Amino acid sequence: MGELEDLRMQNKTMDSFFNLRILTSSYLLIIPMNWHPIPEINAREVSEAAAGKLFHVKVKGKKLAVTYWGDRWRAFDARCPHAGGPLHAGKINGQGQIVCPLHRFAFDLESGKCDSGGYFIEIYECKEERFELFVKLPKKKFLGLF
Ligand code: FES
Repeated sequence: MGELEDLRMQNKTMDSFFNLRILTSSYLLIIPMNWHPIPEINAREVSEAAAGKLFHVKVKGKKLAVTYWGDRWRAFDARCPHAGGPLHAGKINGQGQIVCPLHRFAFDLESGKCDSGGYFIEIYECKEERFELFVKLPKKKFLGLF
């Protein structure tokens, strides 16, 4: 098994056990997260040189828009929560928002909040390892509420 495969296995094992998200002091929502490679994007060739360029990829059956914007990679659902518009075909404006091409709703690339309608997109964490790009996706939406 190669070194890269070892790293992938290590990530998968660690992330399955130790990812917790605390929502409030009285509620604990446990969301196991896993890192998944995005082989369609060569981080070595793209990174800062293509800042703001949007890629459309499919990871674990999930269609994602991926971009290098600001100082890092970000991924989010390619489908707009308003009416299903193709966010991967949108544009990033000067305020750091992805603007949907269908009805021009804008979503903040940090918080995922929409500027109108109370809509929201989840921004998934990405990381580069040896020029390979990985995205961290939730394994399941909900495991337990205490
Ligand atoms: S579908 Fe994206 S703003 Fe309406």
